[in-house]
Amino acid sequence: MDKLFIFDTTLRDGEQVPGCQLNTVEKIQVAKALETLGVDIIEAGFPVSSPGDFNSVVEISKAVTWPTICALTRGVQKDIDVAAEALQYAKHKRIHTGIGTSEYHIKYKFNSNQEEILERAVAAVKYAKKYVEDIEFYCEDAGRTDNVYLARVVEAVIKAGATVVNIPDTTGYCLPSEYGEKIKFLMENVKGVHNAILSTHCHNDLGMATANTMSGVLNGARQVEVTINGIGERAGNTSLEEVAMILKCHKNIEIDTNINTQKIYPISRMVSSLMNMPVQPNKAIVGRNAFAHSSGIHQDGVLKNRQSYEIMDPTDVGIDTNSIVLTARSGRAALKHRLSILGVTVEGPALDKIYEEFLKLADRKKDIIDDDILMLAGKERSDKQRIQLDFLQVTSGVGVKPVASIGLKIAGEKFEAAASGNGPVDAAIKALKQIIKRNMNLQEFTIQSMNKGSDDMGKVHMQVEHEGIVYYGFGANTDIVAASVEAYINAINQFVK
Ligand code: KIV
Ligand code: ZN
Repeated sequence: MDKLFIFDTTLRDGEQVPGCQLNTVEKIQVAKALETLGVDIIEAGFPVSSPGDFNSVVEISKAVTWPTICALTRGVQKDIDVAAEALQYAKHKRIHTGIGTSEYHIKYKFNSNQEEILERAVAAVKYAKKYVEDIEFYCEDAGRTDNVYLARVVEAVIKAGATVVNIPDTTGYCLPSEYGEKIKFLMENVKGVHNAILSTHCHNDLGMATANTMSGVLNGARQVEVTINGIGERAGNTSLEEVAMILKCHKNIEIDTNINTQKIYPISRMVSSLMNMPVQPNKAIVGRNAFAHSSGIHQDGVLKNRQSYEIMDPTDVGIDTNSIVLTARSGRAALKHRLSILGVTVEGPALDKIYEEFLKLADRKKDIIDDDILMLAGKERSDKQRIQLDFLQVTSGVGVKPVASIGLKIAGEKFEAAASGNGPVDAAIKALKQIIKRNMNLQEFTIQSMNKGSDDMGKVHMQVEHEGIVYYGFGANTDIVAASVEAYINAINQFVK
């Protein structure tokens, strides 16, 4: 069996998504879960981009033992210096440097030419090599780079000491056949290609990220750059779970990974919850409906023999079909155990607080599902926000004008206001704006139910614009007006300091 290295970039490319930013503690939580999942390399951040990113790379380096910790840089000395410093505590470290190689990047981004870019690529690798042995070089926009020039760059950086060369389809443009041919071309035409590993890094703009990644692997790439739930810039990156399960299902492909697939579902839920990024219900492997058979013919077939309509066993990805349903009678220990299965470790007062909220929710809702529990664990984080919802009362219905009164606590001090509007959410937000007198506009507003049933929780995602910047907010509650106000407050907390 050939080994395929799994390079996870949830904490770098994934975290670049507006609204998905995590703090260092949350990033460490994800990094530890990635370690348990069995990823080989964790791209922990882009240290020069912000002090927060720098610090996260430092702390993840300390917290994680087995995976290589990778830090991203542009192909410039300052970035490489800062990345090397951030990686000082990593047990296994890698610098990921690179430059754009397509005509678009060379001409318009750098106002340069192919020879100069080639020299800069080699210089960046040699400079990074001063600090660490393991250097990955990315040829940004390789998907649209001419293969002959790309081969020259790959050959030169391997000669300069790159141990891995990343061939990103940055814009998600390639067809699977094209991307596979690109890797094949490099495997066949680059002198010294066997001294390094070729890596895929595919974006999903045309929905082909996983197909392109697999095409790259089938043509010789031995590292894949992926994210949990496929999150990432624009339409996202290749999903880790899809690649891992393709290789598990297709046993004729003699390529193996270190991934413990039974940890896939818990980490998917954790990332979705921490980043407030919903997973689409029909998402392969981890979507709510991925294993739900609804048509009568399918149900009948599955009851007779699961394999009639199922190519994977849900337990292989960690979906626990026999999991104990938590109810109002469940104790703290059961809640703590369920949270730990979902990758969240809490003890003491933090656990007490979540348990208290859990009991309140269990009074309103019959069955508490994993998403509810993760949401409660997240609520504990939002309780530390400067502005908090103290109370909300809304009157609405047919033939009456909706009216809302609201109470907020701002840094401990209480404020109240009331307003009417064209609906309950509008009334509540107008009341809230009487207290927070800032120029802000609601730009996007989505409500989603977590599961099914009229007692279900509603999740609300909002985008609020303030002084030209868009802030993302999230709220979850069995009352969708309250969830909407929580989401609005969550967004405001990001600019009212
Ligand atoms: O998509 C891309 O090209 C990247 C590189 C920075 C690796 O994310
Ligand atoms: Zn990318």
